[in-house]
Amino acid sequence: MQDIIQQLQAEVDAFVISDAATREAFRLTFLSKKGSISVLFDDFKALPPDQKRSLGAPLNVLKKNAEEKWNSAEFSQAKSSASDIDLSRPSGFMPPGSIHPLNLVKHELIGVFQGLGFEVATGPEIETDWHNFTALNMPEDHPARDMQDTFFVQTDPAIVLRTHTSPVQIRTMLSQKPPIRIIAPGRVYRCDSDATHSPIFHQIEGLYIDKKVSFADLKQVLYYFVKEIFGDDVNIRFRPSFFPFTEPSAEMDIEWVKNGEKRWMEILGCGMVDPNVLLHCGIDPEEYTGFAFGLGVERICMLKYGISDIRLFLENDLRFLRQFATEKLV
Ligand code: DAH
Repeated sequence: MQDIIQQLQAEVDAFVISDAATREAFRLTFLSKKGSISVLFDDFKALPPDQKRSLGAPLNVLKKNAEEKWNSAEFSQAKSSASDIDLSRPSGFMPPGSIHPLNLVKHELIGVFQGLGFEVATGPEIETDWHNFTALNMPEDHPARDMQDTFFVQTDPAIVLRTHTSPVQIRTMLSQKPPIRIIAPGRVYRCDSDATHSPIFHQIEGLYIDKKVSFADLKQVLYYFVKEIFGDDVNIRFRPSFFPFTEPSAEMDIEWVKNGEKRWMEILGCGMVDPNVLLHCGIDPEEYTGFAFGLGVERICMLKYGISDIRLFLENDLRFLRQFATEKLV
């Protein structure tokens, strides 16, 4: 047995492990259950005790050497594995996410107004009553507050979840001097819920303050914007309306076809900024005029894609969301 041990030791030393396959061949040849070193151990068990005494040590050395060679091959192989990477192999499948339809439309709308020189402004969703109502010409107990079913904070009646993005107008006019040209996209909250109303929805506010801004500018900007979004054939109409923070005020409708029938749908409110609002923000209404508008992102998204239920936007149903996956993937 002594000879066999020596011979196997020579074989172990001579064996060249160069990659994963030869390393595995080494293990099968020497160390696996049927490998030659394991078989030798089986034979060893049958030897008389005096032979065991003299052969045990060299046999163990042989096994240890073989195991070390196998283990260190793993180490050196891991080190060299960078060169084994096949960069031409196709990668595993990673399903691409998709942009939520509301974000798709929001980004598109922002892009149109940015093209006209409007900058994006933001404000808090938890807002003061003053910014949300009073500064916008809706003092306490003003009936116009009833138009917006508000979530109040129980412990502090002066705090509300903003019911519209219009308070960003106030924040901007308080912190910047005219000329001002901003749009303010964001989430708003109202205590309202059915197929076309959600307690959380999105608006984009627009504000343009400068010398000699007129209602003609307002109409032209909004007409340009709907043509960009819905195409050149779009029909719009302005209806006289009332908002406490604009005078005169209007609502803009867009014509669309449902079941072969033409209908008008309101998509935004707008008007010339009321002189009282300018005064609240320290802007002289004799020197500056401006227009403002507020549009609902859900409305526009529903019209553009023919979506009939607003709740689909919040349900995270992949069958719904995947329909938008081919557009503008990031
Ligand atoms: N804040 C209004 C709302 O949520 C929408 C609106 C109307 C915004 C007219 C405006 C505006 O800036 O001029 O109902």
